[in-house]
Amino acid sequence: MYRLLLPFSLLSDNIEYLSEIDQIMMKSTPLSEETALLVHDSYRRCMLASNFLPLFHQKMIGSSKEVAKYFDVFPVNQRYRILAKSVAELVSFAEKKPEAIQQMNEVARLHSREKLRLKPEFYTFWSSSFMETISELDDQWNDELETAWTDSISHGIEYLIQKNSFRL
Ligand code: HEM
Repeated sequence: MYRLLLPFSLLSDNIEYLSEIDQIMMKSTPLSEETALLVHDSYRRCMLASNFLPLFHQKMIGSSKEVAKYFDVFPVNQRYRILAKSVAELVSFAEKKPEAIQQMNEVARLHSREKLRLKPEFYTFWSSSFMETISELDDQWNDELETAWTDSISHGIEYLIQKNSFRL
């Protein structure tokens, strides 16, 4: 099982400074061109495999009954669209694409305790399900790709967990 490796701990003693997480994320270094290229090529290979979204979805709903309930209410194609969009948002965020912070703020609001009320461990399930899926499907999978993907998704996931914990 993949564990989410967080690049740095953002849990400071000063959690009353709620904008700190935004500042840290804005100042953090974007993915290098090399890492971005590795990840985009890997993602393309996975998307070309017809079972990428079904497999990711299967692992995600298999990760917890609670998570499965969130997806139950949507038709399957919409569930796939939600999962594909979640990957795209995380990569854009790590690349520091214009609008990425604002878009991630909207995702954070949607997933917050007031709306979807996601528990922090659901993000670990997302991460494990995704990493397992791409490691199984990408025929060029290696340690370098694993690091590149971990770097690409962990910033956004940590951001969402922090936002959901402290800015309600
Ligand atoms: C890993 C980071 C995640 C990102 C970046 C992300 C991103 C998104 C985005 C962009 C949408 C809106 C899709 C649309 O256009 O309709 C969405 C919706 C949704 N996400 Fe996530 N998500 C993440 C994790 C999760 C997790 C762990 C769950 C577990 C239950 C989840 C459950 C949902 C559900 C149920 C919706 C649909 C909400 C609705 O339309 O009522 N997401 N997510």
